[in-house]
Amino acid sequence: MDDAMNSPLVEASGLTRNYASKPGVVAGVIDLSLRVERGEFVVIQGASGSGKSTLLLMLGALLRAERGTLRIDGVELTRLSAVERSGYRARSVGFVFQLFHLVPYLSVHRNVLSGLPSGSAVELSEADRWIDALGLTERRDANPATLSAGERQRVALARALVKRPPLILADEPTGNLDPDNAARVLEHLDQYRRSGGTVVLVTHGSEANRYATQRLRLEAGRWAIPSAFPSFNDSVS
Ligand SMILES: Nc1ncnc2c1ncn2[C@@H]1O[C@H](COP(=O)(O)OP(=O)(O)OP(=O)(O)O)[C@@H](O)[C@H]1O
Ligand SMILES: [Mg+2]
Repeated sequence: MDDAMNSPLVEASGLTRNYASKPGVVAGVIDLSLRVERGEFVVIQGASGSGKSTLLLMLGALLRAERGTLRIDGVELTRLSAVERSGYRARSVGFVFQLFHLVPYLSVHRNVLSGLPSGSAVELSEADRWIDALGLTERRDANPATLSAGERQRVALARALVKRPPLILADEPTGNLDPDNAARVLEHLDQYRRSGGTVVLVTHGSEANRYATQRLRLEAGRWAIPSAFPSFNDSVS
């Protein structure tokens, strides 16, 4: 293994992001540091407005940090141009969101294919492999509007996984699912992790705790003091 593969997948230091809004500046996240090794399943919890999505958007190069450094898979994101950032996103990150964000006028199959960056060396047949793996074979040519919520989220997962990204960023991916479908999505994420992937998941809830290799809690844009949340072992249900 070369040095890049031995170094942590994510190394963030002093990440800060504020938002300008009508009454004044709103703090998104403040002076956050984070280290994620390859093969981890990081679960970040926190109340609404604590900065979870802000952090995830920065990890996905969808939002710029105002201060701090952020190195992911050997690339310093804060130094990239807009074009380089979209290249990083296309290559290195799979996103899964609470509201699925499927393309409504494309079939399941075409939604999954849309996860492949242009010029990708991944075979197009991989889309069908993931459709089968996620239990969507019968719905391959269906429109997302005709799918259940659980099916929609599995399409979003297939779309994220098809390019085999080193990192999956999941923002409340089970927030609109019943417990069975939520468990199924988490199992698939864990399977991806066990096959060498890395997951960073943010959530209000506790259902992902049992998969976590690292648990963190945000409070008003900062990490909660360590004694304020239970250790991983205390919380395994
Ligand atoms: N585009 C924006 N403009 C202004 N303020 C914003 C914007 N996005 C987020 N904020 C503010 O930044 C803070 C952190 O928001 P963030 O969306 O990161 O929280 P969150 O932990 O993801 O919350 P939730 O659990 O409700 O999704 C909040 O006070 C929020 O109101
Ligand atoms: Mg959020």
